[in-house]
Parts: sequence; C-alpha cells; structure tokens
Amino acid sequence: MLPEVTATRYVTPLREGGSLPGIVEADDLGTYVMKFTGAGQGRKTLVAEVVCGQLGRALGLRVPDLARIQLDPVIGRGEPDQEVQGLLKASGGLNLAMDFLPGALGFDPLAFEVGAAEAGRVIWFDALINNVDRSWRNPNLLVWHGELWLIDHGATMIWHHNWPGAAAAAGKAYDASDHVLATFGPDLAAAAAELAPRVTEELLTEVAADVPDEWLADEPGFDGPDAVRRAYVEVLLERAKGIGDRITVGERSKDKPSQAPEWVRVRLDGRAGT
Ligand SMILES: Nc1ncnc2c1ncn2[C@@H]1O[C@H](COP(=O)(O)OP(=O)(O)OP(=O)(O)O)[C@@H](O)[C@H]1O
Ligand SMILES: [Mg+2]
Repeated sequence: MLPEVTATRYVTPLREGGSLPGIVEADDLGTYVMKFTGAGQGRKTLVAEVVCGQLGRALGLRVPDLARIQLDPVIGRGEPDQEVQGLLKASGGLNLAMDFLPGALGFDPLAFEVGAAEAGRVIWFDALINNVDRSWRNPNLLVWHGELWLIDHGATMIWHHNWPGAAAAAGKAYDASDHVLATFGPDLAAAAAELAPRVTEELLTEVAADVPDEWLADEPGFDGPDAVRRAYVEVLLERAKGIGDRITVGERSKDKPSQAPEWVRVRLDGRAGT
C-alpha cells in the first residue's frame, strides 16, 4: 500500500501543469507535488498516475515516490487565487502526492543526452501504457541529479475511459514518432526482451492494489473496486505480450527548437548552443 500523509501547508500552484497541481508540505516533513481529485481531469487521472507510476518504478524506471495525501481544504484559506481555492474546496479528503524533486529541470532533448538502452526502455514502457504525453511538445520528463525522471502519467491507458472496448485496445499499435526520446536511437528490441517478461500478473496485481478503493468505486459495469483492478491487470498483461512489435517510429510531425534557455543547457552538460 502507498504510504499516507496529511497536507499541512499549501505552498504554491505549479502553473505549467494543466491540472494545476500544487506544491504542498506534509506532516512527515516531506514536500510533495499534489494532484487533486477535484481537478477537471477527474479521478481516472489519479488512478493512471498510481498504476503507471508504480509499474514504471517496479520495472526499474525512475519515477518519484507516490503517497496518498489527506487534504483539509482549510489549509488553503490564505491562498488568494480563486481557482486554487476552488480546487482545494473540491478536493477534501484523499488525494495523490508525488515526491517533489527540488531543483529538477524540465528535460530538453538538445541539452541532455539519453542512451539508446534507456530511450528504448522509456518508449517501450510508454507504449505499454499508451502514453500520449511524452512528446517533444510536452516531455513530462525531469532531469534531477544528472538522471532522467518520469512524471505525469495521467494521460495514459485511454482504454479505461471505455472499458467495453478495452480488450481490443490491448492489441493496438503505438506511434512513437513524436516521442521526445525517438531521436536517441531507442533500442526497442532490447527493451522489449528485458521488460516484457517482467510485466507479470503478480506484479500488475500488486500495482493495481495500490489504487485506493475510493477512486475505483461505482465504475459502471463492474462489481466493485477489485473487479476494476482486475480489468487493469488483464489489459496491461495482454498488451505487454506483443506491444514491442507494434511500436512505430516515423517522421516527427514538426521540428521544434530547444525550449531551454542557454544557461540551462550550459549547466546540464557544458555544451552551449547545440
Ligand atoms: N515530482 C516533481 N518534482 C519537481 N517538479 C515537478 C514534479 N512533478 C511535476 N513537477 C513540475 O510540475 C509540472 C506539472 O506537473 P505535471 O506535468 O505532473 O502536471 P499536469 O497537470 O499533469 O500537467 P499536463 O499539463 O502535462 O497535463 C511539471 O511540468 C514539472 O515542471
Ligand atoms: Mg505534465
């Protein structure tokens, strides 16, 4: 089970995130990025964060630790922003926390080199979970202590928005053309050989068990939270078997210059102006 903490202070909103996550402090003296149940994206975003975050970490990818976090909206009383106030009020009770990586930088493919093996592992994993949110437009990767960290798995597993079609979705291909790591010569065959056998029913069952019952309750067509967990396990298990052969890397949709300012590139690897 995920550890549980209680939010003690709302520090600041992270405005670059579409769902307006917030930095909060908690009663374990930790600092977290909090994702709110009351955000417009809905609770399935949080389910996806838990399933994919826990799965990614179990497969050896770097994903910041997750925790359950209790929120009393009263801690945001002094927050002047109406949007934040609304979000906090709508999110009393259980929410999701991700360990905050202080000083982490947004990944820039022109400033930070990624090896073929690691690029392959990340793309294979994103194909498994059908992540459409690791593109050069929005990489959702951080660089921290010189290493790549994966964040933001809210927009994955599109099939959980349409369970009757989920079995068919398990066999669908993954187009990695716009993936931010597509240009690093990803070794997809090695990644599939290494990771696919590790995506076992046992591992997926463990991962699904970390999703709080509250976020799985009352799902139409299911007889309770455990039945929904089972559905996540089945689709991912099926998908892991063959997705390695169904990843395509074609032409990127449009070229894009580096987003990072010069000083960031110098700080990252000393190679200015690449
Ligand atoms: N664990 C973390 N440590 C440090 N910074 C983080 C962490 N998680 C998120 N951030 C920062 O907050 C931003 C928003 O987070 P995230 O992408 O998870 O939010 P989102 O609302 O799901 O965003 P999106 O607009 O991509 O849907 C990230 O781009 C990153 O800059
Ligand atoms: Mg994001």
